[in-house]
Amino acid sequence: MRLASTVVVLAALGTAASQQIYDIWQTTWDRAKLFTYFQPSPDPINFVTPGPIGTADIVIDDSAVYQTIHGFGATLTDSSASLLNTLKSQNPTSYWQLLDYLFNITDGSNSAGLSYIRVPLGATDFSTNTYSYDDTSGDVNLNDFNIGAAPSNVFSTLRDILSINEWLRVHVVPWSPPGWMKSGTMDGGSLNTAYISIMANYLLKSLQGFSGEGIPIYAIGIQNEPENSNPTYPSCSMPVSIEAQIGIALRSLMDSNGFSNTKIIGYEHNWADAANYPVQLMQQAGSAFDGVSFHCYAGTVSEQASFTSQYPNKEVFFTECTGAIGSDWWSDIKWYMDNLFIGSINYGSSTGLMWNLALNSAGSPELPGSNSCQGGCRGVVQINSGGTWNVNQEFYAMAQASKAILPRDSGGPWGQRIGVSVGGNLDWALVVGAYVTGRVSSTDWNRYSIVVLNWDDSASTTWNPQPVTATIEFRGMQATYTFPVGVTTLWWYGAP
Ligand SMILES: *[C@@H]1O[C@H](CO)[C@@H](O)[C@H](O)[C@H]1NC(C)=O
Repeated sequence: MRLASTVVVLAALGTAASQQIYDIWQTTWDRAKLFTYFQPSPDPINFVTPGPIGTADIVIDDSAVYQTIHGFGATLTDSSASLLNTLKSQNPTSYWQLLDYLFNITDGSNSAGLSYIRVPLGATDFSTNTYSYDDTSGDVNLNDFNIGAAPSNVFSTLRDILSINEWLRVHVVPWSPPGWMKSGTMDGGSLNTAYISIMANYLLKSLQGFSGEGIPIYAIGIQNEPENSNPTYPSCSMPVSIEAQIGIALRSLMDSNGFSNTKIIGYEHNWADAANYPVQLMQQAGSAFDGVSFHCYAGTVSEQASFTSQYPNKEVFFTECTGAIGSDWWSDIKWYMDNLFIGSINYGSSTGLMWNLALNSAGSPELPGSNSCQGGCRGVVQINSGGTWNVNQEFYAMAQASKAILPRDSGGPWGQRIGVSVGGNLDWALVVGAYVTGRVSSTDWNRYSIVVLNWDDSASTTWNPQPVTATIEFRGMQATYTFPVGVTTLWWYGAP
């Protein structure tokens, strides 16, 4: 019955019912296209009765639907907020153009639609000075807790971003507890275990502080990089059992104080220990944590599977990797797509974030004395003196991925990952992610999108970038497109 009625509907709609590719966003290795939108010329690309496969064959399996993608972005450090605020005062038109280019999720807008921002609770290695929200030694009742210890431009920048993108998801996490809860300094060391419940209360007050500033919080972490203690900037070593106890106490406090919808995300550290710390955290406090997040600085993305294979129902976020000043533009984009913005998503992640949202051309300003970057970290955006800005390779890589999962309808659902595999002689030449985005109206067709990295450039031998003519298989139909060396995002529509 069902098959018969489908045939009738298709026949009634005629050729217009077949899938067509109208929209393409592309970034090429030679920068001839930089997150550039175009329509196939002269005609849309039709899905037709299959012929022979191309040199690569992209096979979409829309019966396999996986995690929802919450978005891409970076961390709004104090340094990023300060630079953006300077741009706003020097050249407000340029500032608002930048925010629109970064954050506008409206379908059809010329914007990456970044939607996930991490915000440190207190100082990091990208602050002007070391501070927490309560630096009164021994203040166990947190009477002197003051969210205003943070630079006010952190909150004003977040409100400006929210005015562009009301669906922005804000994820907060401290780089360290207040120094007095440790051995007197935020720089390195570990939490005095007498302060476990005080730290949970500190995190609750942080959520309340952000609420008071008009910033709703999507997720909170307990400790950034709990396996990193560095005496030159805010950081803290935190064993699994301590993070677990804080998480349990915080979950209870949040549930009884109006934050039951805010997620608690644990770990926030490197792929290399995916089989240990985050797994043990779920064993000890699985009911308190919605999931865990990963950073890129040790290990490989495939290690995310060490966690997801044991906890398939917990969420996985990818929350930090930094660009390095002086590295090669196209090599970076290849690595980011393969490991983060396609790769981490294919290993179960719902987000893809870089480190500083904005820095200047020297990778500054950094916390004086910090040995973390020493002028070597590149922001997603570069803010120049004189009120101008430009975007770096980190932007193009994540913009190409973000575009594929943004809601098609205002207020509509976000994209979900679906099944995809690559065959053909040049199966190694393409790295592919595939997504479905549902609609508000059940009669509207879903959007099916793919993000494709073609890295057939012979970069390791004699440079020779080769376009790859690929077939795309979808529901027994086939489209053909020649992917240049670069990153291509394209989509079509299909009946739900
Ligand atoms: C977002 O982009 C759309 C389409 O270009 C535009 O109409 C709208 O004004 C933008 N929204 C904001 C808040 O800038």
